[in-house]
Amino acid sequence: MVQIAVIGDIHLQFDATDVAYFNQSDDDLLLCVGDLGTILRRGDTAVADSLSQLQKPVLFIPGNHDTVTAWQLLAEIWHLGWFARLTAVGQAGRVARLQRRLGRVQWCGYSTHPFVIHDFDFAVIAARPFSMGGPWLSFHPYLQRQYGVNSLAASAALLKAQIDATPSDNLIFLAHNGPSGLGSTQEAIWGCDFRPEAGDFGDPDLQEAIAYARTSGKRVLAVVAGHMHRTLKGGGVRDWLVHKDGTIYVNGACVPRIFTQNEQFVRHHLQLLVSHEGVTVRDMII
Ligand SMILES: [Fe+2]
Ligand SMILES: [Fe+2]
Repeated sequence: MVQIAVIGDIHLQFDATDVAYFNQSDDDLLLCVGDLGTILRRGDTAVADSLSQLQKPVLFIPGNHDTVTAWQLLAEIWHLGWFARLTAVGQAGRVARLQRRLGRVQWCGYSTHPFVIHDFDFAVIAARPFSMGGPWLSFHPYLQRQYGVNSLAASAALLKAQIDATPSDNLIFLAHNGPSGLGSTQEAIWGCDFRPEAGDFGDPDLQEAIAYARTSGKRVLAVVAGHMHRTLKGGGVRDWLVHKDGTIYVNGACVPRIFTQNEQFVRHHLQLLVSHEGVTVRDMII
């Protein structure tokens, strides 16, 4: 049985208390779905410094709040390609700086990470970094420069190449935003809660890659992501767990991840237990 901790969107809430907890926990592997800081209040370097203190394997996929500026975010929201290119200047330097602060934490994106833990052989496939959800290629200037990806089709093709290059038959996908195809209501696991008409805000390239993995004979054990926060903008709570086609989909974005319960501060993460028999997950409030 492999025990995996999933740390949802951190948004500045990860410190020495978390480091002490995870370093003494029975977790074999930590998956971090991104959004260390916030656009307007940086502080991601302090979070990165804390993450760098973890003494276990940690995979981190950057989200839309990591190494991007408010101007870049506006360019994405307005879908202004020229403005996105203009405001992307400097992102590569910010990525390099954050990578240095993260130390031995593995920076992920279009990457494959094989593991054999407790005799169980599996691979984590990291999806498209910096996703903002929906049918757009967010932050495409950086993706084009770094990965040669200039369309969702190219992104799907690169993800499929990762799958083809993975000898393991057992896969876990790690993404900032989850795949499309899991519902279009506001409460859906990656449904849109900031437009009255709602809609499916999953990543279509990730959906395509997952389907490809299955047709290639792989077993897709779990898909782990965040981004679409559990607390809905208009009130209510998002579904965070879906079982479909033999795969468990989990949205770890419980934001804020530190909150009060019974007048005490508590901290959230998810615990996956993975084995040949399948995957179970539970919300951890500690
Ligand atoms: Fe977030
Ligand atoms: Fe996000």
